[in-house]
Amino acid sequence: MGEKITLSVIKADVGGYVGHSDTHPALLSKAEECLEKAKKKGLLVDYCRSKVGDDIALIMTHKRGADNEDIHRFAWETFEETTEVAKEYGQYGAGQDLLAEAFSGNVKGMGPGVAEMEFEERPSEPVLIFLADKTEPGAWNYPLYKMFADPFNTAGLVIDPKMHDGFNFEVHDLFERKKVVFSCPEDVYDMLIFIGAPSRYVIKNVFRKDGDIAAATSTQRLALIAGRYVGKDDPVMIVRCQSGLPAVGEALEPFAFPHTVAGWMRGSHHGPLMPVSLKEDTPTRFDGPPRVVAHGFQITKGKLIGPRDMFADLSYDRARKIALAAADYLRRHGPFEPHRLPLDEMEYTTMPQVMEKLKDRFEVAD
Ligand code: F6R
Ligand code: MG
Ligand code: MG
Repeated sequence: MGEKITLSVIKADVGGYVGHSDTHPALLSKAEECLEKAKKKGLLVDYCRSKVGDDIALIMTHKRGADNEDIHRFAWETFEETTEVAKEYGQYGAGQDLLAEAFSGNVKGMGPGVAEMEFEERPSEPVLIFLADKTEPGAWNYPLYKMFADPFNTAGLVIDPKMHDGFNFEVHDLFERKKVVFSCPEDVYDMLIFIGAPSRYVIKNVFRKDGDIAAATSTQRLALIAGRYVGKDDPVMIVRCQSGLPAVGEALEPFAFPHTVAGWMRGSHHGPLMPVSLKEDTPTRFDGPPRVVAHGFQITKGKLIGPRDMFADLSYDRARKIALAAADYLRRHGPFEPHRLPLDEMEYTTMPQVMEKLKDRFEVAD
């Protein structure tokens, strides 16, 4: 086996260009500059600066393990520096994801999203990194279930002896801050009752039965941290592939169906999760529809060889068409559910004010 390497993906929205649709190149240059310095200093083995919509993602390899204070401090300071540029350029919502006053050891719970994993590099290490905009962490539940538990998606679960035992899913309850591990396929029905409610229960990690990590997601929900509307979480996900894990094509296959997720317009609407190329990652119509990009890397000695733009392929054209048709269909509901989220899930609501105004007009009904 190869050496141990940590892959950390830390993301934040520190200002949108224009509105919440994109990230200004000046912010990306600043992030790149910080990453290059950190690599020169030896903090990072390698990096890839990326983005989706108005979110900047720092994709980093290093030797310090998950939850490392130096790595997290570096990410926090990078987002502070890019925030300064965002202010200078009058970007929308400058610094919006930096919820804490100052860094205190770990960026978790402070606004930025984090997906990390430490593993021993295999002789060849294909990894996919997904970034989504205008949605929440539970958006990964459906594709992770398909990749690691559904034989109609992943042929390897049936015909690869190295996958036939299935996988363990670590599921977090974001409301109660609890976690539980489901061993699949045995626990599939039990697990689905939870992960089918993705606003509360999210898959944090997937492991092989021998304990090796296979997938990791970011699970923070900004509104739960801040107790008010602060933008959507726009989650990230790492999936290792091949040789006893889902093939690259099996890990991409779930996105051929643009499933419905929460987070479109004002964080308060359902919409299809549209797989797009890195050039089409700019949510525009009704601030959306929500979208996902996929980077492919071969990691070798910690070096990120890539990225390949995995959804820039004509085999995803139909998914995009279906997503656009679903977007039309849902939009026609206007302010009605299920396009609009249920009352307790909306990020914006005028309900308390409207209730207060109308309180004397309500009468007892038979
Ligand atoms: C942001 C988002 C957007 C905003 C919308 C209104 O993540 O999803 O749809 O919620 O543009 O933004 P404000 O309230 O700042 O005018
Ligand atoms: Mg934004
Ligand atoms: Mg965003």
